[in-house]
Order: sequence, then C-alpha cells, then structure tokens
Amino acid sequence: MSLTTVVRAASGIVAVAVVMLSLSASAAATLAGDPVKGKEVYVECAGCHDLKENRIGPHHCGVVGRKAGSLADFPGYSQAMKDSGLTWDVATLDNFLKEPFSFVSGTLMGYFGIEDKQARLDVIAYLQQAGGDPALCSKP
Ligand code: HEC
Repeated sequence: MSLTTVVRAASGIVAVAVVMLSLSASAAATLAGDPVKGKEVYVECAGCHDLKENRIGPHHCGVVGRKAGSLADFPGYSQAMKDSGLTWDVATLDNFLKEPFSFVSGTLMGYFGIEDKQARLDVIAYLQQAGGDPALCSKP
C-alpha cells in the first residue's frame, strides 16, 4: 500500500466519522424527549387525564396526530378547542403545554402549563410512545 492510499483511506474514515457525528446530533435533536422521564411528568396530567378513559379531560391514546377537540365521545370540549383548527403534533403540543390559556384562548383545561421545555418534550415523547404501545393503548 502506497502512502497516498493510506492517507486517502484515513481521510475516508474521518469523513465517515464526521457524517456519523452529524447524523447522531440531528437524531438527538428530533428525539429530544425522553418517554421514561415523560411518564413521571404525566403524573401532573393524570388528575384529569387517562390514556384510555375520558375523565375531566379527553383520553390521550392516539392524541399525537389527532385533530384538537375531535373525540366524538368526549362531551367536555370548549368551543375554543373545537374551533382551534389545530392538529396535535410535537410543535402544537409543545406550544399548548407551555401556555394552555394563551395558545388556545378560551380552553377549559384548568392547568397552567409546564415551564420547562425539556419536561414538555419528555411528556410529549411519552404520549407518542404510549399511543403506539398496544399494552397501554390497544388498537382502535
Ligand atoms: C385540571 C385538569 C387538567 C390537567 C391537570 C391537564 N388537563 Fe389536559 N385537558 C383538560 C381538559 C378539561 C381538556 C379539554 C379542554 C378544552 O376543550 O378546552 C384538556 C385537553 C387536553 C388536550 C387536547 C386533547 C384533544 O383531544 O384535543 C391535550 C393534548 C391535553 N389536555 C394534554 C394535557 C397534558 C399533557 C397534561 C399534563 C402535562 C394535561 N393536559 C393536564 C384538563 C386537564
């Protein structure tokens, strides 16, 4: 093997390593929520919400991807929620959970929100994971 080949091979490895580094950085950015920690945060929601059952608030199985205010069997929605035009995804949930009253003005959710961004992302990750877990949320 000539010196040039060794240098080429080595720089190839560096290039691969750089690509892998940037991939794991962007994966970390999209998967920022930790569902295990989110389960602990969910204790705050569980006074009013359950995954499967409607309580004071609507049930949360499948909430990620759901249209806001759209459960036919939950009678307690505010008009504001039904008219919000929102679909729940990471961004809309993050905004809602940060400041429920200002994001959906007129909401009946009597909860002041979660100030900590990481805690919000964690609980959203938990909702997302629970929704895909047949043990917690059996398929409709
Ligand atoms: C004090 C009771 C209460 C607490 C605590 C509470 N919620 Fe709610 N939640 C409600 C009610 C009531 C609604 C219906 C609001 C409306 O229609 O305006 C609601 C609505 C929602 C919705 C919209 C669901 C849909 O079907 O459109 C989401 C998402 C939600 N809550 C998430 C949470 C999360 C996550 C927590 C904990 C961090 C939480 N809530 C804490 C009572 C509560």
